[in-house]
Formats: sequence, C-alpha cells, structure tokens
Amino acid sequence: MKKFLVMFVVLMVSFLSAKSYTQADRIADMQKMAQAMQDIQSGFFYNNLDIVKAGAEDLKATIGKIGPTKEEKNNKDVYERWLDNNTAMTKRIERNIKNKSDTIIERFSTGDATQALQVYSKIMSECMKCHIRLRKW
Ligand code: HEC
Repeated sequence: MKKFLVMFVVLMVSFLSAKSYTQADRIADMQKMAQAMQDIQSGFFYNNLDIVKAGAEDLKATIGKIGPTKEEKNNKDVYERWLDNNTAMTKRIERNIKNKSDTIIERFSTGDATQALQVYSKIMSECMKCHIRLRKW
C-alpha cells in the first residue's frame, strides 16, 4: 500500500511538472546544471571519480527537463516562438550533453583526465550554443 502511494505521488508529480514547466523551473534546472558542471570540475581537481560521476549524472538527469515553458508555447512573441520551434536543436544538444557526460565518466574512470577535460569543454560549448543562438547572448 505504501509502495503504491509512493508510486502514485511520483506519477502525479511527474505528470504535473510535465504539464507546466515554468520559467522558475527552468532557471532552477539551469542552476542545477551549473552546479553539476562545477561538481565535475571539482572532481577533476581533487581527482575524485565519485564527484565526477555524481556531477555527470546530475547533468544527465537535468538536461532532459529543459524546454520551452507553457507560456512560451502559447506566446505570439517571435523570439519565444523561435525558442519553441527549436526543439530539434534542443533535442540534439540534450543528446550530445547526455552522451558526453557518459564519456567523461568513461574517460575519467580509465585515468584519462586529459580526454575527460576535453569532453568537459565540449559540454560547455553545447550549453553556450543554446545560450548564444536561442538567447542571443
Ligand atoms: C536548450 C537551451 C539551453 C541549454 C542547452 C542550456 N541552457 Fe542555460 N539557459 C537557457 C535559457 C532559456 C535560460 C534563461 C532561463 C529563463 O529565464 O527561463 C538559461 C539560463 C541559464 C543560467 C542562468 C540561470 C539564472 O539563475 O538566471 C545558467 C547558470 C545556465 N543557463 C546554465 C546552463 C548550463 C551549465 C548548461 C549546460 C549544461 C545550459 N545552461 C544549457 C537555455 C539553455
């Protein structure tokens, strides 16, 4: 019964959050990803695989949630519609970031910190790709 209740709550929460992804949610997710990137970096500096792994897993889990908000989808504003219409780009970036997170773990696990760092900077450029193209920063 308890298990069922937990499942129910989890389902409801994911249902609700899928329904209304707000700008506040996205800002929180962005900050989570920035933290995950910092964690990976700390893992490099302290030569700690567990920290690298935790950061990479956080990043993978969070990037999947990023997308346009409900308001943006309904907005007539050209900029925001463009954001919405770029879901193909968003998906591609998401896929790249997920794959590269795995690669970081793989490389760092086998002691190849140089390669792991290279992949790290590629992830960073994926983040910036969206910020620059979608947000015109
Ligand atoms: C698909 C597009 C996209 C991708 C990919 C993306 N961002 Fe963002 N980012 C945004 C948008 C849009 C905002 C503005 C948030 C808002 O106002 O809704 C933002 C804002 C931010 C902010 C500022 C949050 C604040 O406190 O205002 C940080 C930090 C950030 N992103 C980090 C990252 C990191 C780190 C990555 C890569 C791991 C990343 N972003 C990838 C679109 C993206």
